[in-house]
Amino acid sequence: MSGFDAAWLALREPVDHASRNPDIAERVRRHFASRASLTVVDLGCGTGSNLRALAASLPPRQSWHLIDGDADLLLAARHRLCDWADGSSRSATGVVLEKDGRRIDVRFDCADLTTCRLTFGDLGADLVTAAALFDLVSRDWLERLVDALSERHVPIHAVLNYDGAAHWDPPGPLDERVVAAFNRHQGGDKGFGPALGPDAGETLARLCERRGYVTWSGDSPWRLLPADAALIAALTDGFARAAGEIDPALREALVDWAEGHAKAHAVTIGHRDVFAHV
Ligand SMILES: C[S@@+](CC[C@H](N)C(=O)[O-])C[C@H]1O[C@@H](n2cnc3c(N)ncnc32)[C@H](O)[C@@H]1O
Repeated sequence: MSGFDAAWLALREPVDHASRNPDIAERVRRHFASRASLTVVDLGCGTGSNLRALAASLPPRQSWHLIDGDADLLLAARHRLCDWADGSSRSATGVVLEKDGRRIDVRFDCADLTTCRLTFGDLGADLVTAAALFDLVSRDWLERLVDALSERHVPIHAVLNYDGAAHWDPPGPLDERVVAAFNRHQGGDKGFGPALGPDAGETLARLCERRGYVTWSGDSPWRLLPADAALIAALTDGFARAAGEIDPALREALVDWAEGHAKAHAVTIGHRDVFAHV
């Protein structure tokens, strides 16, 4: 168990897919458009949301290495991907999916990214991708990853990196303090050392530029409306819990704050998407 449960990932998946920056997504599609096949490594894959979002933009034959430290999520990924596909069969190493005329070979790798070697280029990766992961990692870890990938000129596509902006409508007088405390919590150690939190997208872009990548970034905010009430309630609760850990003097007030904000009629949570290629 990683603390990211499959129900939370399922709740956010449709919004994650709709929020991806369309210009960055189009650049990724165009970059690989002339290829017949592609090998992709997805770091912190969870239940496979990133594959389900990206597959339609990538070549007809795809080979995915899904890596996560949580064996339960990887098992859920296998089931969800087989349900999502038009057809599926077992292979020696994982599953083979048929989806909209594409053949997608998927391997599942349970590994701790904090300790495993970051030489994913050795897997023959044509693309290394991650969704909603890099705000958990440290600068040092990200630098080592970018160094390793740049040696082999492997493109990097990282989406939905939280950028520190969070707004509820209607707003309240405590919002600034709650968001500041939440953002400090985001910078805590999530297993990789002090986390980049809201700085992840910008840091990745700068590291890639420094290693000679052509780098593109764009916003991918969640814009939540009453139809997303369940996600609004869950994320508001998450903000209140994290803020209360950092700022205990807020705890009592956070009870009312969370109750009121869980019924907000609009919420925006900022993210950045990045695509870097040589
Ligand atoms: C916010 S979730 C995102 C999941 C998925 N990419 C998505 O967009 O739905 C972060 C994922 O990173 C994984 N993760 C966190 N720390 C990890 C580590 N040290 N090694 C491997 N996976 C890790 C978690 O298990 C979780 O699945």
